[in-house]
Amino acid sequence: MSKRTLVTAALPYANGPIHIGHIAGCYLPADIYTRFLRCKDEDVKFVCGSDEHGVPITIKARNESITPQQVVDRYHSMMDNAFKGLGISFDVYSRTSSEEHHRTASDFFQTLYDKGVFEERETEQYFDEEAKQFLADRYIIGTCPKCGHDGAYGDQCESCGASLNPTDLINPVSKLSGNKPVMRSTKNWFLPLQDYQQRLESFIGEKKGYWKSNVFGQCMSWLSQGLQSRAMTRDLNWGVPVPLKDAEGKVLYVWFDAPIGYITATKQLLANEWESYWKDSDSQIVHFIGKDNIVFHCIIFPAMLMAHGGYNLPHNVPANEFLNLEGQKISTSRNWAVWLHEYLEDLPNRQDELRYVLTSIAPETGDSEFTWSDYQARVNNELVAIFGNFVNRVLVLYQKYYDGVIDTEVTDFADERHAYVVEQATRNIESAILNHRYKQALTATMEVARHGNRYLTETEPWKVFKTDPNTARVILNDCLLLMGYLRKFVQPFMPHTSSRLSALLGLPLQNVIPWTETISFSKGMVLPKPSLLFSKVEDEQVSAQLEKLTSVAADVINEPEYEPEKDAVSFDDFTRMDLRVGEIISAEKVKKADKLLHLKVDVGFKTISLVSGIAEHHKPEEVVGKQVMVLLNLEPRKIRGVLSQGMILMTESADGRLVFMTPYEKVEPGVSIR
Ligand code: MF3
Ligand code: ZN
Repeated sequence: MSKRTLVTAALPYANGPIHIGHIAGCYLPADIYTRFLRCKDEDVKFVCGSDEHGVPITIKARNESITPQQVVDRYHSMMDNAFKGLGISFDVYSRTSSEEHHRTASDFFQTLYDKGVFEERETEQYFDEEAKQFLADRYIIGTCPKCGHDGAYGDQCESCGASLNPTDLINPVSKLSGNKPVMRSTKNWFLPLQDYQQRLESFIGEKKGYWKSNVFGQCMSWLSQGLQSRAMTRDLNWGVPVPLKDAEGKVLYVWFDAPIGYITATKQLLANEWESYWKDSDSQIVHFIGKDNIVFHCIIFPAMLMAHGGYNLPHNVPANEFLNLEGQKISTSRNWAVWLHEYLEDLPNRQDELRYVLTSIAPETGDSEFTWSDYQARVNNELVAIFGNFVNRVLVLYQKYYDGVIDTEVTDFADERHAYVVEQATRNIESAILNHRYKQALTATMEVARHGNRYLTETEPWKVFKTDPNTARVILNDCLLLMGYLRKFVQPFMPHTSSRLSALLGLPLQNVIPWTETISFSKGMVLPKPSLLFSKVEDEQVSAQLEKLTSVAADVINEPEYEPEKDAVSFDDFTRMDLRVGEIISAEKVKKADKLLHLKVDVGFKTISLVSGIAEHHKPEEVVGKQVMVLLNLEPRKIRGVLSQGMILMTESADGRLVFMTPYEKVEPGVSIR
């Protein structure tokens, strides 16, 4: 045992339950990695906990008329239980509202303060005079300067996606009192990230080719923009109080205290021995996170650690991309998610099916997608039809022919090919996991089951038995050995299955099966009565889940799919297009064409004939009288035998309807659009 590894998984916000996107992106790969290192008998610790500070939690509390502490208490235990239910094997699941964390984070801040690291800055912030407090960005709403949407937040407009500053909002209003906020100056403490720019550049530069390219690329892009000071304190009453005299009503920025939560968790786990995992030169820290956390783990937290001194910087940060669900982004606020605690309840004892599917589709190099039909297909066609089928066929035959009694010591494969397959798998799984390629590692694992299944089909021991029971036994003994190895290989991915397989094989239960273990069965062993390792997911289960998803989801609006920007055109090119306002004076369906309407359009000095593909979205009688945008000099052509002298310009709504471009107020038909 040489080095120590500290594995961390992003502390989830305690303002909502855990969903499959969190699991696929962060907790499952972290768990597989940790379980594997345990199998390798490495000194590894796996820490996590709830991130219980930040503005969204205070907003949730307000909305429900409860305290922030009540909000986080609820979700902390919910998440803790759900993680346990899925077999995410944290050594400690801590929380940032704990006293110990407050002390740790506070001391950390104090050390930086005493070293003179912070810049003190007065800034102007919105203040609510009635509620007597400064307003976090999310507590200010107003009109979006970009799109005119009325409910934009101080940090973002959810309608057009623009990221905003509170001062950008037109007619800002405080969510607390409904009043117009006033500007007030306030003091906060800033971490001058630019002071660490060079050290961060060389630290991250060294990781080139070692860190995942999505992570490395994001870091480089941040660094190339030049780092700037960032406030590490906030005017807020929920969080770790700033431990300074003149800091009444201020707390540490949630992204300052949350990563220190990893330190708190390690302390809780190891008491006096925590430091070696953070500070010794032969210790490595590996942070598992989602892609939205990259800057905090690769730049800001390392800068904090540098400023503090004495800490190791992260060894690796294998961040994943995002998992989508049934064609949409997963969204907590819109309730478009598969919640882990509900999955565990609705589909009991199917933890490993979820682990298997989420690993198979993990968003390792790009966003990926979960659908229930794909879940069903992977379970039924892979786990049931290949893995389960192999195991079950062998065990049933063994009972039938030999009453499950093993009549000789079984240690080595009779057929050399199996030894080769096992060796290959041992090597491939290990190198894939250590390189954070979990999909590939799982494929290498399933390869052993596929091999076993193929071997059985090929050798047909049920036929051999009729003429040569001894040879049939040799075949089946080889299969038992393969299954023994399989139960070891799958342990990091599917720990429940591994245990069930141990039980089916009459092997002792081990929480950690050493990676070097060789399998053997002793003479006289009796195999227990076989039972199925996996069962099929039925169509009804899938449709029930789909129904649940769509029935509880808030109206789901598709994110617009933006077309790539086009090349620049000259002003001359632009003026060559004759764009005008036209008024529709008649409309009728084009025969035998479901999509087409034949329109007569008044463009002032003449009436033109137009064919437009809008019939599925607009009834003829509804469009008459509408003013629309027309491209008049598009070359005329015949569509289904009808002359079309131009084109009506349309756009598309979020739910895919075609929408006219109509002047804001009525104008004379035929006027130009420039
Ligand atoms: N709560 C954050 C999120 O869910 C993650 C915090 S990770 C930590 O995005 F490092 F800050 F702990
Ligand atoms: Zn907007």
